Amino acid sequence: MVGRALWGCKNRFGKRSGRSGVLSAVCLGVLGASLLAVLFIDSIELWATSLGMTGSVKTPAQPAGLMPQSMPPSRPEEYLLMPSPLVCQRAKPYLITMVTTAPANQKARQAIRDTWGGEVEVRGKRVLTLFMVGIPANPTMGKLLIVEAREHGDLVQGRFQDSYGNLTLKTLAMLGWVRRFCSQARFVAKVDDDVLFNPAALLRYLDHRQRPLQTVDGQPPDLYLGRVHLHVPPDRNPSSKHFMPTQAYPGAVFPDYCSGTAYVLSRPALLKLSLAATATPLPHPLPPEDVFVGLSAHTAGIAPTHCPLFSGGPAVPYGRCCYQAMVSVHHVLPADMVRYWADAHTSSPCSWLGTRASLGVCKVRALLGTLIGL
Ligand SMILES: *[C@@H]1O[C@H](CO)[C@@H](O)[C@H](O)[C@H]1NC(C)=O
Repeated sequence: MVGRALWGCKNRFGKRSGRSGVLSAVCLGVLGASLLAVLFIDSIELWATSLGMTGSVKTPAQPAGLMPQSMPPSRPEEYLLMPSPLVCQRAKPYLITMVTTAPANQKARQAIRDTWGGEVEVRGKRVLTLFMVGIPANPTMGKLLIVEAREHGDLVQGRFQDSYGNLTLKTLAMLGWVRRFCSQARFVAKVDDDVLFNPAALLRYLDHRQRPLQTVDGQPPDLYLGRVHLHVPPDRNPSSKHFMPTQAYPGAVFPDYCSGTAYVLSRPALLKLSLAATATPLPHPLPPEDVFVGLSAHTAGIAPTHCPLFSGGPAVPYGRCCYQAMVSVHHVLPADMVRYWADAHTSSPCSWLGTRASLGVCKVRALLGTLIGL
């Protein structure tokens, strides 16, 4: 695309007619502008998204008197498998990443352990990655999970049937576990098991963002961070797997929410959101996990924050510098995860310009891929 434009410009330069001076100036201007647009594509995206956001959540529906302390405690017996209850006291993670995974996805879990999930210290901060599962329908699978938990000590199993329709219960169990057993973590990330997550890129983003926002007691402020979906209407088609009847949610659109593929909550946001989630009765059928988290955040008076470094839906074509910069990339097969990680994270860091250019190119390619996919 840029190549063709360049060629066009060159042709204009070639012809030395009277108007060619003006034309080539316009041409160069357009080229320069598109180049800048590619280099700063994430800033443009951030600006465009914030324009579309449904204002700030000014009046929390939750009475302000309800403090996080009044939260119903989550009990250890809610979890069939879990690492030692002292795992966070020992590891003292700054960031805990909870990977929601289906019992059968053993390969995906292993790829994560062998790549980003295996990291224990990033940018001088402790990180910890655990996996969240439910009860598999197949008892043999249940036994395999016990063996896997014994071997790796990184599985948390909630007391609910593991199924697509129960993903919201998995998130509730995850929030409850972190609330109860990991008060050390300043931030919790929820990540799907087909996501190439990049704790270093997240911590870099948080370092830059949080410094001016740090509160007196050292706790980070409310943060609900990810790829924000704007003005999503509920699915009113009864045969859809995301069917949402009007009685369950009467509104025309959901509050803006972060894509469920990967999002991050600060500890205070986790406590408020979790309180809001447990205080409201669960609708039937259960809304999609990310919509549910968005609704709970809205109830708690927490607005989502958009970060262009979270990929959300469309697959992002591989680029070394792009993958070094992105916080999360969705739709990555286990074998690719190992390959991409080895290439992007064992090589030297990319230059500022290299990162900008690669990020621009892979975002444009992802966008084109989505458009063609339609
Ligand atoms: C969700 O889990 C509950 C508790 O285990 C179970 O009764 C229910 O059938 C499950 N729902 C779906 C849609 O799988």
